Amino acid sequence: MKRMTATACAAILLVSTAHGQQSDPLAPTGSWSAYTQGKAATPPMGWNSWNAFASAVDEEKVMGSAKRIVESGLASKGYRYINLDDGWAAQRRVADGHLMIRVDKFPSTAARKGKTPSFKPYTDKLHAMGFKAGIYSDMGRNTCAQAWSATDTDLPKGSVPEREVGLHDFIDQDIALYFRDWGFDYIKVDGCGLRDFGPNSAKVKAGQARALTPIMDLGAISRTDVPAVQDLFRQVGAAIMRNRPNGDFIYSLCIWGAANVRAWAKDIGNTSRTSDDIAPAWGRLVVNYDSAVHRALYAHPGSWNDPDMLHIGAGDFDADHLTEARSHFALWAMLNAPLLIGADLRKTPDALMDILGNADIIALNQDAAGNQATVAYDSSDLQILIKTLGNGDKAVAVFNRGSGAMDVSLQATQLKYRDDAPVELTDLWTKKQTRFTKDTKLRVAPRETLIFRARGTRALADGLYLSEQPGKVNPAVDGVTRPIADPTIFRTAYGWGGTHGAGDRPQYAGWGGARADSAPYGQTLQIARKTYQSGIGILVNSRLEVRNDGYRRFATQVGVDDSATDKTSAVTFTVYGDGKRLAESRPLKWGMPAEPLDVDVSGIKLLELVARSNATENEALSVTWGEAALTGR
Ligand code: GLA
Repeated sequence: MKRMTATACAAILLVSTAHGQQSDPLAPTGSWSAYTQGKAATPPMGWNSWNAFASAVDEEKVMGSAKRIVESGLASKGYRYINLDDGWAAQRRVADGHLMIRVDKFPSTAARKGKTPSFKPYTDKLHAMGFKAGIYSDMGRNTCAQAWSATDTDLPKGSVPEREVGLHDFIDQDIALYFRDWGFDYIKVDGCGLRDFGPNSAKVKAGQARALTPIMDLGAISRTDVPAVQDLFRQVGAAIMRNRPNGDFIYSLCIWGAANVRAWAKDIGNTSRTSDDIAPAWGRLVVNYDSAVHRALYAHPGSWNDPDMLHIGAGDFDADHLTEARSHFALWAMLNAPLLIGADLRKTPDALMDILGNADIIALNQDAAGNQATVAYDSSDLQILIKTLGNGDKAVAVFNRGSGAMDVSLQATQLKYRDDAPVELTDLWTKKQTRFTKDTKLRVAPRETLIFRARGTRALADGLYLSEQPGKVNPAVDGVTRPIADPTIFRTAYGWGGTHGAGDRPQYAGWGGARADSAPYGQTLQIARKTYQSGIGILVNSRLEVRNDGYRRFATQVGVDDSATDKTSAVTFTVYGDGKRLAESRPLKWGMPAEPLDVDVSGIKLLELVARSNATENEALSVTWGEAALTGR
């Protein structure tokens, strides 16, 4: 056997197993590898304390919002999780490591008969109201408020070890306490403890926290130890499973798009933050939305992109900004984002409650097919998102990101509907119904999002393109070998430090990941000058897993995408069904016409689409699974 160069080995991504053998991640497995544990068949809905109260949270504030959720009817519309964020912990009892609660803030937790305070009465109360209960912790020794809070008022008190309320070194003990003893059903695991307590941090220097060498840096993937971060989050997931073997839990990762988590959280938890924190400011909404909008293939039933909680009720999303508040809700619904209300509902005006309670829009978010919307029209100021629903209807959002009104022509073909048959549109705010053939003119105000449910005649009569069903397509290996930041994510001028520093720089790794109806770096899909409106764009040395829901035929046109800069390496495209090879292309190079693959997939549950090459650089070799579709049921 010829000796491979080190770079060739890297390109093929050989991975060492625990036994030191090399395994080939492109080899078919016959199984779906994205996370399906826990209870997140649809995105979680509920309420979280952070946006309204930060660390100044207490039982009355939580219960007040929970009560309004019941009384307003939001509970019956699906808002189920009542989540405590940072601010509940008093300290860790050093003798036995037991976590202590701020009993003055949560009176129902007060110790009875010489026992330790417990959240059990609190979660019992929420359960009796029909809710599930959520708690917050951090993967390091300390939480984000401990890193960033301007005052000490609501932070854990005591000696340095007493203030270490995070999971580090206490994973088993704390997870058992939360899920088994205290009865919580949901955990959000933050990451400041892995990032903000280096030896030079202010808190460490001031003697308030122990140094923990950072293994993660949101601004620099190169200063992040991705496998170490993954390992910690996996340990927490395993501990949750041990303590909730019935699977009634939600595991929410919160490392804000750091550590290339936008590529791998789908394998480890139920929801994962794709960006830094939302704020009640339009610019932040756009950043957070951008961090998820091109990542439809990385979200599936059981593992959702989380562009952060709703901020409806404050600042640019308050009752004086209904256009922005409606956009926020419509976009989060289309992204299959968790719908976690962040307002003090004791005081939220009815106009905003009506937005949160729009059952037609909630139904898009909670649609069982679990397809995140994909981008049918993309530009810096206007985007059209299309979400394929389980019954074949489409949800359509027309989002004006800009500052001027826009005239938009919505085309039936953007919905992958025939343009010679009528399309019915229902406006999900006004309920007004209209009909068009071929295209229709729409006017969209600045910051407005029009949102419709649509019904028409499918262009692909008896099936679905893979790009219409991202919930069933998993880029198990997306070919990215050198994660770098996505330069297209909006960078708002007003960051956390005002305009101090050098501005908001690209920081969310994942650029070049797998895309629906787009090449990995955003170009139109194209093989040898022929463009494809539908298809999957991905880097070479990749493996896609595709769930087949009873279709009989899989067909696609494969080739090296014209956007590739490697014009010499050959790529072989292989289709596997339940682990067996069904079809394979010839070796194809840049400029060669697409080769059709057409296979009978009757009875096959899982397809795997592998594009393999011994190219030296995956990043230079984008490939296209053009018009990839499952048909005939
Ligand atoms: C981080 C998270 C927020 C919130 C705070 C709590 O900033 O991203 O959502 O949980 O920590 O301190």
